[in-house]
Amino acid sequence: MAAHELRSQGWFGRTGKDGFIYRAWMKNQGIPDEEFRGKPVIGICNTWSELTPCNGHFRELAEAVKKGIIAAGGFPVEFPVMSLGETLIKPTAMLYRNLASMDVEESIRANPMDGVVLLCGCDKTTPSLVMGACSVNIPTIVVSGGPMLTGRYEGKSIGTSDIWRFNDAVRSGEMSQEQLTVAEACMCRSAGHCAVMGTASTMACMVESLGLTLPTNAAIPAADSRRKVLARYSGERIVQMVKEDLKPSDILTREAFENAIRVNAAIGGSTNFVLHLLAIAGRVGLDLTLEDFHTQSKGIPLLANLQPSGKYFMEDFYYAGGLPVVMKALGTKLHTKIRTANGKTVEENYTAVRSYDDDVIADLDRPFKTETGLAVLFGNLCEHGAVIKPSAASPHLMRHTGRAIVFENIEDYHARVDDPNLPIDETSVMVLKNVGPIGYPGMPEVGNMGIPKKLLEKGVADMVRISDGRMSGTGFGTVVLHVSPEAATGSTFAIIKDGDLIALDVHNRTLNLLVDEKEIEARKSNWKPSHPVATRGYVKLYQEQVQQAHLGADMEFLKGCSGSRVTRDSH
Ligand code: FES
Repeated sequence: MAAHELRSQGWFGRTGKDGFIYRAWMKNQGIPDEEFRGKPVIGICNTWSELTPCNGHFRELAEAVKKGIIAAGGFPVEFPVMSLGETLIKPTAMLYRNLASMDVEESIRANPMDGVVLLCGCDKTTPSLVMGACSVNIPTIVVSGGPMLTGRYEGKSIGTSDIWRFNDAVRSGEMSQEQLTVAEACMCRSAGHCAVMGTASTMACMVESLGLTLPTNAAIPAADSRRKVLARYSGERIVQMVKEDLKPSDILTREAFENAIRVNAAIGGSTNFVLHLLAIAGRVGLDLTLEDFHTQSKGIPLLANLQPSGKYFMEDFYYAGGLPVVMKALGTKLHTKIRTANGKTVEENYTAVRSYDDDVIADLDRPFKTETGLAVLFGNLCEHGAVIKPSAASPHLMRHTGRAIVFENIEDYHARVDDPNLPIDETSVMVLKNVGPIGYPGMPEVGNMGIPKKLLEKGVADMVRISDGRMSGTGFGTVVLHVSPEAATGSTFAIIKDGDLIALDVHNRTLNLLVDEKEIEARKSNWKPSHPVATRGYVKLYQEQVQQAHLGADMEFLKGCSGSRVTRDSH
């Protein structure tokens, strides 16, 4: 590509006063003049923050990317964007995913970049960056931060999924508070994101299966020196991608999305995958629907034996060969001729890989479980859909009818769940309302609500739980999520009462409220909203604009791509 065709030359290639201004201030960082004369300018979009501990090593990662960019003849410029740390942000990081995507989009569009490297790690930092970059559509490559090393507590491997077990053990008296404090220091023992197939790892697999990364990106541990090698190679590659003008819109075809859905089924990925992939599809103008998640994952068994659906951790996954082995095992179930970020096809990237542990990654003939990783439900209780992760649910509850115990909001749940007089037993169906995109607002990860203490003490380990919220990718249980339309819209989900019968049938993909249609309509006509409504700021905008879960919970006005052209400047 000739220098005058580079987007960045619209800034740095100018003469006179404008070129002077664009270059002179940059030169205060010690940048020599030749850097501005036709080298591809590569942005490194960094979500480093001490408040996002999963991305705490990203300054070092950025340095590795820079080495690659420089080696390939590019000019690296690192810039910060809003970082979303899953563990600290209140009320929930999901509330800010769309805001962060706007930051990314406008930061890229407004600045002289020819290509961009997205440094993604903790859950929402991946979809927000990819969504933003897709809405600009300049050459883009993703580098994930990598998972933590496996935690060790009392001689056993532990990871984020154990938090739910520890919590139940403390509540039932099996574990002391002191033991819990010790476990706390044992879990996150290295840099990186959650060490199980939670949302962050699911997102890392999603970007690799979409073709937005170099092969092997998904699972290299953050602490492994090969993570920096991958970052360096990604820096080298993005310079070439600029020369080839290989953009997200060239990679993110319908076939790429279908591959991502199939791979997610095979790895038992997080339910959050659905929301984020729908939102990304919306940015590239692709008409992906919830039904696609059913049709595309049909017949794909669970191949990865990873927590929370299985036994092992991301570190084991990497040593067993990582995502490339899953991609190879899926073989012709994937679209193998499509192009990926390194310029090669899926087939070219993954044909030569080998599995090193078939207890961690199975093949199609002997899958770990036959249930697909994700099921989409429909019925009068969720007219636009809901999702459940069968691979993390209890087989005996996959077809279940029970009486509803309704919690009107999260505060109501906390106030009453452990009340000894709560009329609940193991056959009941726990319903949590007003934790959807609008109702909470922001759709928090509270859907796998804890089981009442009195039932835990009886040894009840799982119950059917239904909400319009989300579940942590590290969570498990027979948990129906993302009910759409959510309670805050006055939907059927909003009018469920204690004692109503609810029928779940995962095999037939249905979820129904067994209440007479006339009674449902009568209750709807008397319904009044009870969720908090913001009166100003971003949250007001979010509540007014956010779409329902079955559309990915993006904002209506953010769908699509504005492109990278900026026609006016202020000089
Ligand atoms: Fe950051 Fe789990 S909290 S990835």
